[in-house]
Amino acid sequence: MIDEKRLEDLKEEALKEIRGAQDEKGLEAARVKFLGRKGELTQVLKSIAKLPPELKPVIGRLANQIKRELEAALKEAQAELKRRKEAFLPGVDLTLPGRPYLLGKLHPITQVMQEICEIFLRMGFSIATGPEIELDYYNFEALNIPPDHPARDMQATFYVDEKVVLRTHTSPIQIRTMEREKPPLRIIAPGKVYRCDSDVTHTPMFHQIEGLMVDREVSFADLKGILTLFAQETFGEKTRVRFRPSYFPFTEPSVEMDISCVICDGDGCRVCGHTGWLEILGAGMVHPNVFRSVGYDPEEWVGFAFGLGVERIAMLKFGIDDIRLFYENHLRFLEQF
Ligand code: DAH
Repeated sequence: MIDEKRLEDLKEEALKEIRGAQDEKGLEAARVKFLGRKGELTQVLKSIAKLPPELKPVIGRLANQIKRELEAALKEAQAELKRRKEAFLPGVDLTLPGRPYLLGKLHPITQVMQEICEIFLRMGFSIATGPEIELDYYNFEALNIPPDHPARDMQATFYVDEKVVLRTHTSPIQIRTMEREKPPLRIIAPGKVYRCDSDVTHTPMFHQIEGLMVDREVSFADLKGILTLFAQETFGEKTRVRFRPSYFPFTEPSVEMDISCVICDGDGCRVCGHTGWLEILGAGMVHPNVFRSVGYDPEEWVGFAFGLGVERIAMLKFGIDDIRLFYENHLRFLEQF
């Protein structure tokens, strides 16, 4: 049976637990233990009804008073916990969820560019670079494109002034490298290029990778072998290639290389214009005039060159149909790569 002594003991025990709680969880446990629906004090309050009539008022009053005291102690303990936390980190609510830190990734164009460069590095090519603001001489003239040459119309050039342009292709790096180094050489040159052009397949700035191999005995067969291997490493072992005759002023003969369509595997679809083939690069044997402009003897040296558009390859690899997506910088797009 309940008496005053038991109630006082219960109160002491409860106060001890409430004041000793180290955190909110401990405090809540103490509240439930004594004041919860099945708590010890709650049980006492419920059992008062069964007491002899003369005891009811005394025990009842005491139990209710203890309940109020415990509730006050709970509030005080809660305030104390909060004070302690604030003293530790003022103004900081440690119970708030943290801010996520997003992990940065390489841009899909950077990824594809690195991947392609690695393929050629494995084949013994090394990397060369050149300026994006380029002399007309390197961008055109030394590449066998004189001032009135119609090939200048093939590329809508941004002119800085009469003699300076934003390079329209990475081919001027061929000239700069050959001026600097003696043959034999084997380089690739990745970089940004600029043309006044903008639609679903063209942006005013895009990326190219140029290749150049010069030696005493380089043949068209080497060109075909190396570019076929590149296509298969980039698009998969089963990729087929074909070479079509083409024209570039700095190569003779010139070709364009197609790969079997990555979407329909050659059956014909919308992406390949129902031909089964996709053009992915231009190439050819270095024109003797190009060698002459850098002081290489065309009787002694032969070479092949190629140039490819990185965005186009990335679009084919990832199945993207609008080049502008690469440069709108929407995270929902970029995060997929
Ligand atoms: N420079 C050419 C362009 O931008 C691409 C190209 C074609 C580069 C043939 C070459 C080459 O080195 O041999 O359209």
